[in-house]
Amino acid sequence: MFVFVSLIFLFIISIYFWIKKIYSYWSEKGFLQNSNVKFPFGSLTGVGKKFTTCEALDIIYREIKGKSPVVGIYFFFKPTLMVIDPELIKKIFVQDFTYFQDRGFYHNKNSDPISANLLTLEGQEWKERRSKLSPIFSSGKMKMMFHIVDLISSRLIEAIEKDLQNSSDLEMRNWAQRFTADNISSTAFGLDAKCLEDENSEFLKHGRRLFDLTPFETLKFFFTIGCPNFCRKLGVRTNPKEPTDFFLKTFLETFEYREKNNIQRNDFVSLLLGLKELLTPIELAAEAFLMFAAGYETSSTLMTFILYELALNPDIQQKLRDEIVTRIEENDGKLTYEMLNEFKYLDMVTNETLRKYPPIPNNIRMCTKDYKIEELNLTIPKGTAIELPVYSLQHDPEYFPNPNTFDPERFNDENVKNIKQFTFFPFGEGKRQCLGLRFGLMQTKMGIAKLLINYSFSSCEKTIIPMKFVPSAPFLQPKGGLWLKVEKIL
Ligand code: HEM
Repeated sequence: MFVFVSLIFLFIISIYFWIKKIYSYWSEKGFLQNSNVKFPFGSLTGVGKKFTTCEALDIIYREIKGKSPVVGIYFFFKPTLMVIDPELIKKIFVQDFTYFQDRGFYHNKNSDPISANLLTLEGQEWKERRSKLSPIFSSGKMKMMFHIVDLISSRLIEAIEKDLQNSSDLEMRNWAQRFTADNISSTAFGLDAKCLEDENSEFLKHGRRLFDLTPFETLKFFFTIGCPNFCRKLGVRTNPKEPTDFFLKTFLETFEYREKNNIQRNDFVSLLLGLKELLTPIELAAEAFLMFAAGYETSSTLMTFILYELALNPDIQQKLRDEIVTRIEENDGKLTYEMLNEFKYLDMVTNETLRKYPPIPNNIRMCTKDYKIEELNLTIPKGTAIELPVYSLQHDPEYFPNPNTFDPERFNDENVKNIKQFTFFPFGEGKRQCLGLRFGLMQTKMGIAKLLINYSFSSCEKTIIPMKFVPSAPFLQPKGGLWLKVEKIL
């Protein structure tokens, strides 16, 4: 009995010292590390319940600001380095990109083939894939697809018109999601998914499932970041199986049909088909899937938060509506792709929303070769995950005074010049910057323009003020959706 109790005791003591060792990784290397590290979540204690990841990281950011340009943190057991100094961020994104080219995102070609896409690929494989895909996101290609987004935004207005017959208080996140889902299903999958007309559309159901992660799935997601090799051995998949199978099947069916019938359309599917000599059908499907995965939630989130701020700031809303309506009237009632890009105030409102609510609030890079930080005389070891806290930098009062005030004037021609470089990067920066930026902005601005011409937005009883985010969501999501009072402009 004594031996048994002693062994248990020894086991507990060993575990204790093992954890202590793991959680002193950064301080042993000479880096400052965050003070509140707890087993088993490391620096993420409270995430999913009390706050979102970016809110947890923001606490660390404030704790460390002014003390060090970097801070060692722990994603579960995985040591990660959070870089908070804009000069160092610039080196990571641009000057020393060759050390930080990868994201270290988990993907598993065997158990989940479409998880291997531009977002997750690494090294030379990523470089080659990016150069093959870049041309299909050019400004010319966006212009070509403008008519599809235009048509779908008219359908958005028809759908809202119907919804208004039931109540004037509408959940606008739902409409933003259905709008972006129809845009991407139509352009990247060649499918009229009718998400705007049918709340139970299969495409929408699967799309939402990809992002409405259960707390267990969110935990699994972070676990794959923390222990990718172990997860790969276990065959863990991050994307839920049912929706990924659906997207794969849908793309391959359209692909076959278009090829057999020699059908050409001005959309992403045809552009992807043009790459069939360079990429396999599964690889092309993986990229179409990524367009949905990277474009649906981000763009609809942006649209949602723009509407939220416009509802709370009626003067800004009216100024924006005036800009849009006047320009369209001057152009014989027509809205063109060029005009959409020329709406100055719309661009300022969009940027200020991206600042206050970056849809992807944390950016990630992986250090692929030992990297010396000269000013600290410390080396970041190869294999270290790098966290770039977009949300915190964009809410830092040193760079954006009164950060909680929604003020599009920060981005007017005069003020924008004073924004410190690498403190505002909602689309990332450098060679790995968001490839779908133009499409994301096109669909968001188009949706907002059409909505503002037709409706005015204000808060209603169900609007949550101040904004609260869903703690378990890896991206920014408004808690309880976005309820607004919507009134027709006569
Ligand atoms: C408002 C909308 C969007 C936001 C805020 C956004 C944001 C981002 C961010 C922050 C990244 C990481 C960049 C980096 O690491 O430096 C990214 C990557 C990416 N995004 Fe977007 N995105 C949006 C819309 C879209 C759309 C509509 C598409 C496709 C149709 C898209 C496709 C991609 C792709 C392919 C990548 C990976 C690029 C690479 O690794 O080479 N995004 N996006």
